[in-house]
Amino acid sequence: ETVEWEAASYDMGGHDTYMHKEISEQPDAVDRVLRGRIDDRFNTVHLGGLNLDAREARGIRRVKILGCGTSYHAGLIGAGLIESLARIPADAEPASEFRYRNPVVDPDTLYIAVSQSGETYDVLAAVQELKRKGARVLGVVNVVGSAIAREADGGTYVHAGPEVCVVSTKCFTNTVVAFALLALHLGRIRDLSVAEGKRIIEGLRKLPAQISEILESEADIKKLAEEYADAKSMMFIGRVRGYPVALEASLKLKEISYIHAEAYPASELKHGPLALIEPALPTVAIVPDDELLEKNRAALEEIKARSGRILAVAHREQEKADHTIVVPKNEDELDPILMGIPLQLLAYHTALALGRDIDKPRNLAKSVTVE
Ligand code: AGP
Repeated sequence: ETVEWEAASYDMGGHDTYMHKEISEQPDAVDRVLRGRIDDRFNTVHLGGLNLDAREARGIRRVKILGCGTSYHAGLIGAGLIESLARIPADAEPASEFRYRNPVVDPDTLYIAVSQSGETYDVLAAVQELKRKGARVLGVVNVVGSAIAREADGGTYVHAGPEVCVVSTKCFTNTVVAFALLALHLGRIRDLSVAEGKRIIEGLRKLPAQISEILESEADIKKLAEEYADAKSMMFIGRVRGYPVALEASLKLKEISYIHAEAYPASELKHGPLALIEPALPTVAIVPDDELLEKNRAALEEIKARSGRILAVAHREQEKADHTIVVPKNEDELDPILMGIPLQLLAYHTALALGRDIDKPRNLAKSVTVE
């Protein structure tokens, strides 16, 4: 599988920053990762380079996903997708932590290394250690022919196209979509029904237009960013599928605006972080219309009772929140993909309001090729 990117794809194309360009490219990028992979006859997907036949796929007992930073967050959502669609126990862990704890390597576990650049040293070293111990490792990688892609036994490219900005946006989204494809593929080999496969495929097909719809509300998100840019610190909360979205949004804000941010599962608030809540510490809450809606609303009430300001990302207006960014609804499993998008714009416009150098945040490099 080879993809050549012309010099033109490195052009700013009328945008002031690569980050803005890359956020705007997401409808096309998602379209690209889906293209040619959906099989409507069997309501499944084909991923050419996996090197994993159906019998092997049925023998997988666990999935362990390894990555760093944003790729780790995409892996957390990926683990949730694999558990819910393929019903295989799955989790994600920072590759750097995994390497140093002398992990038990189990022959029935499928290991998946996630990386935009395909060159992150901690991820590469984890892959090499796993292979040395006889494990099967797949790569979910953006850069074609990169070190991790070459080292893995197989895998899938996420086809986000070149990502220049130090902070990852479109690659995060495409990586999560690639995990949805992998989860659907594994699910349909195992126990996911034809009807369920169709439901997810229909949801995937809606994503590019729904992302475009979110991008159209940029002017409103910019106003909100300007309103919250005076915060010294921000709290991000979500539950289950929403928690990795909170983690990623909090990382994005930290990286480019230098505002301190923390992400917590909403259910953990009462176990400590609630002590921080006061008007000067706004909370961004991920509140999807799913089986956890009432639980999430209860968390908003707890915050409001302590006079905390709340910005909700939800499928409908939340009366306990000071502001709500309403995003289009998809299938519950795919909602995290859409809920992350407005928060990329929120981080972007916050950093812009504070006059930060968005494409080159201080102290950071695009890929960390050293230990
Ligand atoms: C993303 O915004 C970060 N700059 C960083 O966390 C990044 O995701 C991480 O270093 C992993 O990079 P990779 O995906 O190229 O392996």
